[in-house]
Amino acid sequence: MKIPLLQIKNVHVSVEENEILKGVSLEVFPGEIHAIMGPNGSGKSTLTYTLMGHPRYTLTAGEMLFDGTSITDLTVDARARMGIFLAFQYPYEVEGVPLKDFLRQAYNTWYAGTEKQIGLKAFKKLLEEKMSLLGVSSEFVERPVNVGCSGGEKKRIEMLQMAILQPRLVILDEIDSGLDIDALRVVCDALKVILKQNSETAVVLITHYKRILEHVTPDYVHIMQQGKIVRSGDKSLVDEIESKGYGL
Ligand SMILES: Nc1ncnc2c1ncn2[C@@H]1O[C@H](COP(=O)(O)OP(=O)(O)O)[C@@H](O)[C@H]1O
Ligand SMILES: [Mg+2]
Repeated sequence: MKIPLLQIKNVHVSVEENEILKGVSLEVFPGEIHAIMGPNGSGKSTLTYTLMGHPRYTLTAGEMLFDGTSITDLTVDARARMGIFLAFQYPYEVEGVPLKDFLRQAYNTWYAGTEKQIGLKAFKKLLEEKMSLLGVSSEFVERPVNVGCSGGEKKRIEMLQMAILQPRLVILDEIDSGLDIDALRVVCDALKVILKQNSETAVVLITHYKRILEHVTPDYVHIMQQGKIVRSGDKSLVDEIESKGYGL
């Protein structure tokens, strides 16, 4: 029997004594794309941070399993090593470090202590393969990380990082907010290419807007409201929200 890659069971989460998530359950199988939509303040980012193990978010009830193993007590790093990738909402600028070195460091930190650690030569090969997959130039990876990069370029870096790390579960929390149409296309095209190459990679795409879902088609759509998933369905739910709003 196939087991879910991610299993969230009746999760309750509090921040400073306030209960934000009030019993969220979700199952994600390998290769599936799930969209979580909902108004601002409904708890979407709280779910993201809880999945990553941010210390500020206290799990008061429920359980989270990844690949059948409880991750509830694991550190952020341990969860990352298992293959959970959260696209950065605020990419950092590292003065003077060329992107290719930054990516190698990120890879080896991510896989620290595992058999996936690789040397310079093997990394170069991996990087070149992913650059060609995403159409990134060598000039681009010689440049210092994020310094003077546009919003679209920062997203391209994130996508390249994701392609290199080859996560098993990708969580994209409002990656579309503040992006112009060209930058959004960069993100969506890259995501599609990466998913095509790794058909087992699962995605949880969190968004307030329908726009990104016109480019990346979700298998399942969940509506979050006041700390709960109030409805789940297929992609037709997106159009229903568009016409009726979140008060459906
Ligand atoms: N770190 C935090 N400290 C205090 N309140 C928080 C924190 N994170 C989230 N909240 C509160 O939890 C609720 C849900 O927020 P959030 O998860 O960011 O929603 P969404 O991502 O759906 O907009 C909001 O009322 C917000 O004020
Ligand atoms: Mg949010």
